[in-house]
Amino acid sequence: MDSSAELSIRGADGTYPVVVRAGALADALPAFVGARRFSRIAVITNDTLAPLYGEALVGRLPDAFLITVPDGEAHKTLSTATALYGDLLAGGCDRSSLVIALGGGVIGDLAGFVAATFMRGVAFVQAPTSLLAMVDASLGGKVGVDLPQGKNLVGAFKDPLAVFADTATLRTLPPIEWRCGLAEVLKAGLIADPPLVDHLLACGPEPVEEIVTRAVRVKKAIVEQDRLESGVRATLNLGHTFAHAIEQVSGYAWKHGEAVAVGLVGAARLSVRRGLASPTLAETVERAVIALGLPARYAGLEPAALWDAMRHDKKWQGGTARFVLLREPGAPCVVDGVPRDEVIAVLESLREGT
Ligand code: NAD
Ligand code: GLY
Repeated sequence: MDSSAELSIRGADGTYPVVVRAGALADALPAFVGARRFSRIAVITNDTLAPLYGEALVGRLPDAFLITVPDGEAHKTLSTATALYGDLLAGGCDRSSLVIALGGGVIGDLAGFVAATFMRGVAFVQAPTSLLAMVDASLGGKVGVDLPQGKNLVGAFKDPLAVFADTATLRTLPPIEWRCGLAEVLKAGLIADPPLVDHLLACGPEPVEEIVTRAVRVKKAIVEQDRLESGVRATLNLGHTFAHAIEQVSGYAWKHGEAVAVGLVGAARLSVRRGLASPTLAETVERAVIALGLPARYAGLEPAALWDAMRHDKKWQGGTARFVLLREPGAPCVVDGVPRDEVIAVLESLREGT
């Protein structure tokens, strides 16, 4: 595959390009923006990324200014959004302005939500800098903020004008964040690109443009079929029912991507247990998770407490136990009504030391 790639995703108002390439922030993004007219351009980023990439990006754009928020999920809130509306007004933004989200999934979701709602919606560009944001969060139009009661409880669907994934920025990504992104790359392979799983097992996560591009293609195919998540988009939740429970019961001591890794193993084991898949599926998933430096087990959490947390999963409509399972890599299915004892048995098997 070419080491640089441009894809496009069909959204609500036409298609938008997704550029995956080292250096895209220096050339492709400024060229794209420079070819269009905006009254003002606000680059929203965080205090980690402003000195690394934000200041340089603003310097390459006409009529642009930088808005910096504190780093972290704790700031993906309505109160940060309110402060951002004020910053946009103070910077002279109007309905013809552009918002650029420069950062990981937190900034993409937050700045996207602000772009969706400021003056009933302004133009928006995603510039993801984390692996997770490149392969998942920046694609498909979901934007939003958290409430004290839970994550992503307020949001909108807002497609970007374009996505620029500058893979050179991944060189400064902390290793733990890189591994967490790899869990989502593996998830993408398991959902719809079995050769990607083989590649990760045989060669590891290189070349990075290739694994990002392949994961982007998986998400593209799914969100183009089901933009508003009334069907197949739910398969992107593979491993996430287990993961959300681990995150919640651990008091968010677990990173999301690490919990997803355990969740992928859990989903594979549950698939085998229910007779949907052969035991080699669970072995393959566990091998891939370990090869990527991710955990396949958890410790110190009670299976019964994890099950209770799952019951409050917002995707379990009407309280029915809904899991995304696999018949084999590339063949996901959504299964309702999984009995508690089967889930508990899988959770027991995922405990360290068992
Ligand atoms: P994040 O945005 O918090 O980024 C992780 C950390 O890495 C942060 O400290 C960030 O500053 C830092 N970072 C990012 N890029 C960097 C770089 N190039 N160099 C140095 N540091 C860098 O977390 P994330 O994992 O990117 O995203 C998680 C968020 O995404 C969650 O809020 C989740 O709800 C959301 N999400 C949204 C969707 C969606 O479809 N909208 C999908 C998945 C996840
Ligand atoms: N990350 C899940 C989705 O975009 O639907």
